[in-house]
Amino acid sequence: MVRAISPLFAIGSAMNYRHAYHAGNFADVMKHAILTLVVESLKRKETPFFALDTHAGIGAYDLASVAADKTGEFRDGIAKILAAPQCPEEMTPYLTLVRQWNSSGELRHYPGSPEVVRGLMRPQDRLALVELHPEDVEVLRHRFSGDRRVGVHHMDGYMAAKGLLPPPERRGLVLIDPPFEVRDEIEQLCKALARVLKLWRTGTYLVWYPIKGREPIDRFHAEIAAAGGPNTLAAELLIRPTDDPFRLNGCGLLLVNPPWKLAQSLEILLPWLAETLAPGRGGYRLESLIGE
Ligand SMILES: C[S@@+](CC[C@H](N)C(=O)[O-])C[C@H]1O[C@@H](n2cnc3c(N)ncnc32)[C@H](O)[C@@H]1O
Repeated sequence: MVRAISPLFAIGSAMNYRHAYHAGNFADVMKHAILTLVVESLKRKETPFFALDTHAGIGAYDLASVAADKTGEFRDGIAKILAAPQCPEEMTPYLTLVRQWNSSGELRHYPGSPEVVRGLMRPQDRLALVELHPEDVEVLRHRFSGDRRVGVHHMDGYMAAKGLLPPPERRGLVLIDPPFEVRDEIEQLCKALARVLKLWRTGTYLVWYPIKGREPIDRFHAEIAAAGGPNTLAAELLIRPTDDPFRLNGCGLLLVNPPWKLAQSLEILLPWLAETLAPGRGGYRLESLIGE
């Protein structure tokens, strides 16, 4: 298991992971900052886009909650970013959103991936949110009721693609952000990615993964590369060296069919994030796994 179990909510549920404990941490910052860049690039064309979030969570988080306070992870994530004296232009769409959520100037609310996408999408765009946890999906339904652009689905995110892809819009993104609670999550991910790519080869896919030791990640990348497929980038942020394989030392985002020039933006964004979030000990990697 990579991410922490959240014991407050574990009783009576087979699904223990609760994102409320981790909202706004370094991994969210990296994932959501890159997500905003992908959405902004889709908006360069007037034609509508479709976004699918296969593991949506509850949409937004209260950083003053017991859960967020218990781990305090946001203090080493979004709080550090907001305190930075300067930031690159690549952070603008993300930071503008986070500031809109905290208009009093005090950091209290954090938008999850569903609200990140909703905050940037236009009237013609569509968003599908998939969540398996029965309570979380109800929170999502309530939050997005009345927004006709957004559909909420209670099902297994890995299975959702079947009914939803390829979208009629023929352009858009899929965010796959599982909790990594099960041992074979990477295996499930690789299989799911192969399946969805068969359904929709031209979509942009963002696949989040945790980094503890280096070796399993190198194997994961080799597997993705061996499977063949579209142009794929692996963007990684390390908050410390990977010598201790039992800690969460960083995270990565696989970007399948990344938008034009995203790699150049990441060359600026990733080192800045590493230096801001983990000065003197952080690092980053940007690797092209497959070229068409
Ligand atoms: C890492 S969190 C998602 C965070 C969210 N994407 C964000 O960035 O704000 C993972 C979520 O996946 C949900 N989940 C776990 N297994 C799932 C599955 N098989 N299908 C869909 N959702 C699942 C969990 O309940 C949890 O809310």
